[in-house]
Amino acid sequence: MEKIAIYPGSFDPITNGHVDIIKRALEIFDKILIAVLENPQKKSLFTTKERMDMIKEIFADREDVEVKAFHGLLVEFAKKNNAKIVIRGLRAISDFEYEFQMALMNRKLNPDIETFFMMPNVKYSFLSSNLVKEVFMLGGCLKDLVPEQVENKLREKFKKDPPVKSLKEN
Ligand code: PNS
Repeated sequence: MEKIAIYPGSFDPITNGHVDIIKRALEIFDKILIAVLENPQKKSLFTTKERMDMIKEIFADREDVEVKAFHGLLVEFAKKNNAKIVIRGLRAISDFEYEFQMALMNRKLNPDIETFFMMPNVKYSFLSSNLVKEVFMLGGCLKDLVPEQVENKLREKFKKDPPVKSLKEN
């Protein structure tokens, strides 16, 4: 039977750390379903469609990667999509408590669903979508932090230049 793993998240935007986890997971599972959280209560920079389009573009050559939006309970979405595995990335010990709580809550809600924790390459252990946005807004360099599709989209959204001029120019 096909082993489908769900990789859920906000992906606002996807970073090289997320991409690293997805590539590692593809070595283990037959298919990765990337579940993009659609939550009107959570303020995001990119719309759900923009976040999904960026991920689809990055993995355009992979038939074993699918991207879908979801709302409501993750375990319900997993069940509907015949997936019993949820993947979450752990960058550092600081991620652990929240992830542990979520994994056990998901298990309580549906004992058939198992959470797998995966570590990205250590060079991404400081990386987060929020920091990427902050660095971009303040004119910092995003090299090695996000795929080029994401950097292009950020430039497009902010009409080519970040809101603050490059720090180098000051
Ligand atoms: O990238 P994020 O923001 O850390 O991802 C968090 C996410 C989407 C995995 C989490 O918020 C989630 O699963 N939301 C769905 C709601 C849900 O199922 N809640 C109960 C289980 S804790």
